[in-house]
Amino acid sequence: RVVAVIMVGGPTKGTRFRPLSLNVPKPLFPLAGQPMVHHPILACRRIPNLVQIYLIGFYEEREFALYVSAISNELRLPVRYLREDKPHGSAGGLYSFRDYIMEEDPSHIVLLNCDVCSSFPLPDMLEAHKRYGGLGTVLVIKVSAESANQFGELVADPVTNELLHYTEKPETFVSDRINCGVYIFTPDIFTAIQSVFPLRKETSNLRRMNSFEALQSATKTLPADYVRLDQDILSPLAGKKKLYTYEMLDFWEQIKTPGISLRCSALYLAQYRHISPHLLATGNGSKSPTIIGDVYIHPSAKVHPSAKIGPNVSISANARIGAGVRLISCIILDDVEIKENAVVMHAIVGWKSSIGRWSRVQAEGDYNAKLGITILGEAVAVEDEVVVVNSIVLPNKTLNVSVQEEIIL
Ligand code: GDD
Repeated sequence: RVVAVIMVGGPTKGTRFRPLSLNVPKPLFPLAGQPMVHHPILACRRIPNLVQIYLIGFYEEREFALYVSAISNELRLPVRYLREDKPHGSAGGLYSFRDYIMEEDPSHIVLLNCDVCSSFPLPDMLEAHKRYGGLGTVLVIKVSAESANQFGELVADPVTNELLHYTEKPETFVSDRINCGVYIFTPDIFTAIQSVFPLRKETSNLRRMNSFEALQSATKTLPADYVRLDQDILSPLAGKKKLYTYEMLDFWEQIKTPGISLRCSALYLAQYRHISPHLLATGNGSKSPTIIGDVYIHPSAKVHPSAKIGPNVSISANARIGAGVRLISCIILDDVEIKENAVVMHAIVGWKSSIGRWSRVQAEGDYNAKLGITILGEAVAVEDEVVVVNSIVLPNKTLNVSVQEEIIL
């Protein structure tokens, strides 16, 4: 029996995702027309003998209620949101719900960060984990040496795949193999997390005795029950024949900024070709718009037949796309209106926004640059014939003049 747990974090996390995380929890932001967390959930569905999926986070319960009940019905698999009263860290959060998880008597626990975009090769990873016979297996990918320091860097034995060395976001280069934030554990992980608690107590005693020393180290000021999976569990257990690695070759991205979410939307749309082709717009029929490449259009959206859409476009519920509109590489959220002959390119258009006739909302499309894509927050109005380039516009603004390289507060 397998239980999957997805760590969704809370409102104090995901701040780099603003302004898009201002009115929807980041894990529910749509990529390729489906909430971010939906993609790992579908991947979990492919694990044999999966009995339950838990989402653990410190968002209000009501924020996830609708989604969780809809997806449970759709998949005919219990999906439940468990709310922490405060952040406990990625391992501490898991530990705080050990009773719920162990109720299912699982042989394996699959643990995933919600803010990664991947093909999630979970069934193959589970098979490898069983062969290794360790406490845990970490999903690993090779990245460029320049980008590795944003992640946990690790060294594994090339023959046995044992995790030999692990450093979280090191200042000097260790390895171009990184932690993907996807793990498989046996229930012994709870004993490993528990063994960190006495260490925490020692350091909080120390704080009383020697406050200067305590201030020197961020670790020593952490709450007693705050345990991070990477620093507190993976680092000390590396090289002890307990942890192993499974290297993936397919796609993987970490979704920290809105720019990357546009790239992730493209990756998931491309994946639909293989796993859910019915979700892709075809452009067949006299009433359909011209479709180029991978495009998702929600069934309730209205798109004029003379519009030209794609590649990499997703259009959410109740959006209205007028005649002659051109959309390239963009996410159009619920209830947006785009009027005749407007162009949207490398942009995210927030809920209930409107774009006027002959207007352009665009960017160069460098997903890593801060202003490499244009973002309109919720209910932004761009008037007719206005051009918005490489800019971020916060919610409820009206733009009646053109702007370039600006953050409009
Ligand atoms: N429920 C809950 N409670 N979730 C949490 C908490 C918490 O207190 N703290 C973090 N998370 C969730 C986040 O929402 C995210 O999904 C995941 O746990 C990891 O977040 P962080 O601990 O902030 O780490 P990170 O995202 O900067 O880096 C981690 O993931 C990378 C892969 O994406 C590290 O494990 C890196 O080594 C790894 O490369």
